[in-house]
Amino acid sequence: MLTTAVKAARRAAGIITRASLDIDALTVQHKQHNDFVTEVDRAAEASIIEVLLDAYPGHAILAEESGKQGDSEYQWIIDPLDGTTNFLHTFPHYCISIALVHKGQLDQAVIYDPNRNDLFVASRGKGAYLNDRRLRVSKRLKLAEALIGTGFPYRDFRYLDTYMAMLRDMLQKTSGVRRPGSAALDLAYVAAGYLDGFWEIGLSKWDIAAGCLLVKEAGGLVGDFQGDDKYIDSGNIAAGNPKIFAQLLQTLAPHLTPELTA
Ligand code: IPD
Ligand code: CA
Ligand code: CA
Repeated sequence: MLTTAVKAARRAAGIITRASLDIDALTVQHKQHNDFVTEVDRAAEASIIEVLLDAYPGHAILAEESGKQGDSEYQWIIDPLDGTTNFLHTFPHYCISIALVHKGQLDQAVIYDPNRNDLFVASRGKGAYLNDRRLRVSKRLKLAEALIGTGFPYRDFRYLDTYMAMLRDMLQKTSGVRRPGSAALDLAYVAAGYLDGFWEIGLSKWDIAAGCLLVKEAGGLVGDFQGDDKYIDSGNIAAGNPKIFAQLLQTLAPHLTPELTA
């Protein structure tokens, strides 16, 4: 199943990379304020679904652009292009993210970055890999020495004040904060130890499913802002190596509003 997901991701990457050579030719649609979709997102997604359903016709799908289809104990969760805003600006940092959930548990994960030719994969219980190299989260112990990834609010500004308070604190307590623009790759970078931790408010399942399995299989922890398991549904997510994860939660705790702890 992992091999099929890799094949699907590489085929989608071909579509995305060809389109990136002539961005001006694309028709960009607004889903909502600052939320863009192009025919590339849709074509990449259709191609991924075709590869997956060709191999596993009975499986169910949850995909960003086309929604849900099918009913099965196996469900593929797909973000065909994570980092669309970067892609539209030719900022070379975006990826394809594909995860397989079996009976409610994350089982397989693929995140592919076509700009760097970085293929991140994980299978439950079998570890996480980058281009065949086994991944471990970083060993950094102190938040003061940590590099932390995040995502800024950009279309839903309900939590802007809360987020800014979190960021203000994090800027002062860490060695640096980065906003690369692709949540899936941010999580892959936590798995690889490039980032010591990550947090973002209000992500969707397709942004995080594959990345969460990568982080866990690399020895890291993932949770909502209270460290619980509800992050896949709420999209409020923190991740990191075990030491940094605990300190991230401590730093976020004073800023949590009732909506963020529900
Ligand atoms: C977005 C990216 C971004 C994150 C957003 C996501 P998209 O996904 O992951 O880093 O901050 O919340 O929606 O729209 O480019 O697939
Ligand atoms: Ca996304
Ligand atoms: Ca997307």
